[in-house]
Amino acid sequence: MKLPRTDLPLSRPALLVLAYRYLVRDEKGDPVETPEEMFWRVARAVAEAEREFGEDPEFWAERFYQLMASLDFLPNSPTLMNAGLPLGQLSACFVLPVEDSLEAIFEALKAAALIHKSGGGTGFSFSRLRPKGDVVRTTQGVASGPVSFMRVFDAATEAIKQGGKRRGANMGILRVDHPDIEEFILIKRDPRELRNFNISVAVTEDFIKALKQGADFPLINPRTGQETRRVKARHLFDLLTESAWMTGDPGVIFLDTINRANPTPLLGPIESTNPCGEQPLLPYESCNLGSINLSRFVKDRQVDYPRLGKTVRLAVRFLDDVIEVNRFPLPQIARITRLNRKIGLGVMGFADLLIRLGIPYDSAEAVKLAEEIMAFIERESVAESQRLGEIRGSFPAFPGSLWDEKGFPAMRNATTTTVAPTGTLSLIAGTSSGIEPLFALAYRRRALEGVEWTEIHPEFLKALEERKLPVEDIVAEVLERGGLSGIKGVPEDLKRLFVTAFEVSPERHLAIQAAFQRHTHNAVSKTINLPEDTPKEEIGRIYLKAYELGLKGVTIYRYGSRPEAPLRLAREE
Ligand code: CDP
Repeated sequence: MKLPRTDLPLSRPALLVLAYRYLVRDEKGDPVETPEEMFWRVARAVAEAEREFGEDPEFWAERFYQLMASLDFLPNSPTLMNAGLPLGQLSACFVLPVEDSLEAIFEALKAAALIHKSGGGTGFSFSRLRPKGDVVRTTQGVASGPVSFMRVFDAATEAIKQGGKRRGANMGILRVDHPDIEEFILIKRDPRELRNFNISVAVTEDFIKALKQGADFPLINPRTGQETRRVKARHLFDLLTESAWMTGDPGVIFLDTINRANPTPLLGPIESTNPCGEQPLLPYESCNLGSINLSRFVKDRQVDYPRLGKTVRLAVRFLDDVIEVNRFPLPQIARITRLNRKIGLGVMGFADLLIRLGIPYDSAEAVKLAEEIMAFIERESVAESQRLGEIRGSFPAFPGSLWDEKGFPAMRNATTTTVAPTGTLSLIAGTSSGIEPLFALAYRRRALEGVEWTEIHPEFLKALEERKLPVEDIVAEVLERGGLSGIKGVPEDLKRLFVTAFEVSPERHLAIQAAFQRHTHNAVSKTINLPEDTPKEEIGRIYLKAYELGLKGVTIYRYGSRPEAPLRLAREE
């Protein structure tokens, strides 16, 4: 494939991923637009929304172009891929209801197929499905239960993979009090099962209470509302944390915490999140995300708050415009999405920002800065959404919403903030992903033609050169060990500043996540990375601590526990 020409500061891996998945291509598969043309396509398509509000679309298109081409901000991948094109589906996150009937299950499957085709990800709660072995009256047969239907969703996702924009992602949720919970907790111990799913147990406050009291916990058939049997809460919790220790799955979501923050309880409860857990949504609701590249907001070794504030406001306007021009895959999705008008503005490049400020990720100062920055982004984004609400009208479900109860005169969006993983966006922007610490300081990358080279984190390379340290020797050791710890001749302060994901203590991972969560309406994507020799009991402590910190969910990953994990250290591409 011919790489596109560009004057933007995009790395070779960024150009490759753009060429393969984002730029418009001809029949031969070669890109027919440059990255600049892609940003113009997106800017113009989104700015079309301004026309309805009596604004000049060209004026706003210019601004939106600058916002993205500077790499200060990027909208979620489907917006970059589809804006201005016939598909026109711009959101990354969806939640679909799965009702307890064959018709409804296959309706959800069809909706998921349409969403995956367009690059979006789907979350489902399977909690309403009757358990395995329960009666099916119409056929006088027995029900196969949530896990077996999840396999159908998994197979469908697998089949759509080839034709879609990217590999379809799913979240599968089951309530902790569902009778099939043990099967669900154990399923992914077999690496062949549910490969296109992240799974999470929806934990309730009643469960935590039973766990703390060492009590039995009732499992309830959702079809009848009757208790089917009782299990020791401790038994379930140990099974759950052992599975997570073995494979990373299941994670947990805290349903009561999520629903206390549900901005529109009159529309019903939230029962699921999107695939990576950062976006709780109502059934049929969708949300479009965008991320500010924090590493670009340093001035004189300080956070450039005035410029950050302007960027937040413009990004909120951009994301609100996306809702106007978005083409939704189903009328039910259009309806509920337009009722709430949720947007999710978040950040990427937090670790790179810290490095530029000379603050180690594993420090109290980093937690303080996380809190300060996200509080600022939340405040500015709410101010802008309120302002837009006064001009354009509040989101239609505003009466009776939490915003209404808090006495806000108007609000354009039921939520404004979400911290996404930014898996691909951060690669395009050339910065660290989401709020994660650096994953590796140096790694080997292999091009398609088989050529291999070592990539070194630019700030790390600069620091080694400035201190006149032996770059080649240190990088060779870093490739071997993954981080700087244990390497002789490297000053302590550099070891602290360039700490990597598996060296950060779990408490600090959680504290950073909690600092962001306190100022985020939706949820925060974060992986608690753990060294390979982490004891099993540690996982339980982390899950409970996450609950006490008010997190909406938690995901752990113990190094080496999943052979096909996308982010293995160094060496691999
Ligand atoms: O960086 P990018 O915009 O590609 O995505 P992300 O921030 O890593 O993920 C945000 C959301 O996009 C996920 O939570 C999913 O809802 C969706 N997604 C997906 O559907 N399929 C993928 N392969 C990756 C992400």
